[in-house]
Amino acid sequence: RWQAVKMRPRLRPWRRAGSRVVAQAGSYKVAILGAAGGIGQPLSLLIKMSPLVSALHLYDIANVNGVTADLGHCNSPARVAGFAGKEELAGCLDGVDVVVIPAGVPRKPGMTRDDLFGINAGIVRELVEAVADHAPGALVHVITNPVNSTVPIAAEVLKRKGVYDPRKLFGVTTLDVVRANTFVAEKKGLPLADVDVPVVGGHAAATILPLLSKARPKTSFTDEEVEELTARIQNAGTEVVEAKAGSGSATLSMAYAAARFVEASLRGLDGDADVYECAYVQCQAVPELPFFACRVRLGKDGVEEVAAAELRGLTEFEARALEALKPQLRASIDKGVAYAQQLP
Ligand code: NAI
Repeated sequence: RWQAVKMRPRLRPWRRAGSRVVAQAGSYKVAILGAAGGIGQPLSLLIKMSPLVSALHLYDIANVNGVTADLGHCNSPARVAGFAGKEELAGCLDGVDVVVIPAGVPRKPGMTRDDLFGINAGIVRELVEAVADHAPGALVHVITNPVNSTVPIAAEVLKRKGVYDPRKLFGVTTLDVVRANTFVAEKKGLPLADVDVPVVGGHAAATILPLLSKARPKTSFTDEEVEELTARIQNAGTEVVEAKAGSGSATLSMAYAAARFVEASLRGLDGDADVYECAYVQCQAVPELPFFACRVRLGKDGVEEVAAAELRGLTEFEARALEALKPQLRASIDKGVAYAQQLP
């Protein structure tokens, strides 16, 4: 039933008009906040290539004009506009359908995602306040870590502004799925394009829970394989942080994953009734956790359905891991909520 979203767009960017082939522009506007960063730049490029996008708004507090000029020379249909500094943020958000937020500092070796909270909580707060004021109906994709806390912060900010719609706020966990698919395909010698592993929970260390028993195509794993793959998927971000040795965390694979999630969201907005992705959202999938990453169906209003049934029939290993992650994820959620509630 579940269909992995492929990067291959479904809509053709070209249509024939008489004997000429002309570009058919999409109709969606996407804003990227933090567009000049390590993730922001390749993400902007990938979204510029989407046939569903008519306008791409790039916002950053530094270096965004160069990125805008550079990207604007690509002859794909989306029109690119740059917005530099706080006074241009409102213009950037005006009329957009999807806001993607990769603004914030990344990890260095030895850091956990939670170590970023002190700086990134304030950045997310500031940007989401602007989203509430200038693009209250947009889908909001939060990439900034620690996602387990920044999404609850975003929710509180939107609530205070009276514009919170839980169906429209997402923590982007697509990279965990992308990694799980890649590692499982490699391990089991499966064609990469066919593999789809749901990853639930949250987006930090042991809160990342790949459900290997629910992988498609149906695949059997030894206990050792389950332990090894689960640990690798949970630590994949740290693998990249250490390999980059101080120059940042995952940017290219993150941009790829975020572009896949944007494409899926736009297909949902566009009326495709068969779009499923895992994302960290407010839901009842696990009653004691107000936010939880699980598979959702995306539609015209964002989340149309939460596939909580996928949490039934877990293996013993998965059920134990789910129990074990609850206190850590709950603490991260509470930390985000407490931060937002003490704001003046
Ligand atoms: P980066 O440092 O290369 O880029 C961040 C960009 O944000 C910079 O261009 C900076 O000028 C901008 N920025 C900072 N404060 C801003 C503000 N107030 N308004 C607008 N822009 C602002 O960092 P990178 O590698 O792009 O990572 C960004 C975030 O994404 C980090 O928090 C990182 O931990 C997170 N991340 C999340 C992943 C996920 O799976 N959700 C995976 C990888 C990284």
